[in-house]
Amino acid sequence: MSVQMRDALNSIAPYVPGKPIEEVKRELGLKKVIKLASNENPLGCSPKAREAIIKTLETPALYPDGNCTDLRNALAKKFGLKPTQFFFGAGSDGIIEMIPKAFMNPGDESIMAFPSFPLYETNIKLADGICVQVPLDKNYCFDLAAMAEKLSQKTKIIWLCNPNNPTGTMYTKDQQDEFLQKIPEDVLVVLDEAYYEYVTRKDYPESVELLNKYTNVIILRTFSKIYGLASARIGYAISNEKIIGALEKVRSPFNVNTYAQVAATASLDDEAFKMLSYTTNKQNKEFLYQAFEAMGLPYLPSETNFIMVDVKKNSKEVFQSLLRKGIIVRPGNIFGMDTWLRVTIGTKEECEIFVEALKEVL
Ligand SMILES: Cc1ncc(COP(=O)(O)O)c(C=O)c1O
Repeated sequence: MSVQMRDALNSIAPYVPGKPIEEVKRELGLKKVIKLASNENPLGCSPKAREAIIKTLETPALYPDGNCTDLRNALAKKFGLKPTQFFFGAGSDGIIEMIPKAFMNPGDESIMAFPSFPLYETNIKLADGICVQVPLDKNYCFDLAAMAEKLSQKTKIIWLCNPNNPTGTMYTKDQQDEFLQKIPEDVLVVLDEAYYEYVTRKDYPESVELLNKYTNVIILRTFSKIYGLASARIGYAISNEKIIGALEKVRSPFNVNTYAQVAATASLDDEAFKMLSYTTNKQNKEFLYQAFEAMGLPYLPSETNFIMVDVKKNSKEVFQSLLRKGIIVRPGNIFGMDTWLRVTIGTKEECEIFVEALKEVL
């Protein structure tokens, strides 16, 4: 008999990342390829982050600071919280991976929406937990009432993604408050706010304020999106010391590399870069909305740096046709939305090229 993998892996599909630019160039013999598939920042990162990384290249032989001290202190100051209320991972992916390990026993349940960020399900299953999925409502928003109804004696973790990936939709502060009041104190609520900095609506929750009120909330943020540091792999969690203390037991000692730490710390204060990224995203989002309206394509108003658009055709085929034109997007079929595409809001030029290509393909 050959080596057998763990039973849990039978129901887990490997994560399918957005196709890399160089691979598409090689495969299709293309000179120019635009990637609008992974919700990266099309403006790159803060020049301060780049400078900090270059300086650090002189010391690759040293292990990183396992405590992320400088970044931890900078965040504590920014939020007016204790340094011990922060936790760091190799991207928020790295933290999502550790949460079920720290808070679930085999057979426990965890509730998430569908479609939402797929790594919640993977990591629930890797902890031998049971993933309870609750469909989004008819407007592709979280059905928080239906999620609360799924609570059982076995529920350990609930995952809320606000704004949600892949739909870009959000729920409001009032909706979140109402939901949290229904959740028992021993159920951990994860608030994944990867796109926090892109949100334009005023009724979006300021979740950090909830940490005084609820002992069962953990907030996830990332440097991969508006900060433009996706390649560095760094995200952080904010919660109380007890929850952070449990995660500290699960992580490996040097889980965040030096380049990520210095780049994130240098980026934190660069309000000008963040503002430029925010306004560029907002303008180009409007441009795409107008283009979709002119083409008669329904789309979901987005609070993120991507938009879900209904191309009313098989999304896999449209994805392939766009790929042949050198444009990488995300086909909606992987999220159970068979006629939709998820497109990252690029630079103005990238958005224009995408719209022209989409018109031709459709
Ligand atoms: C909702 C959400 N959470 C988490 C992540 C993971 O981001 P990272 O690991 O790069 O911080 C993503 C990435 O796309 C996301 O969309």
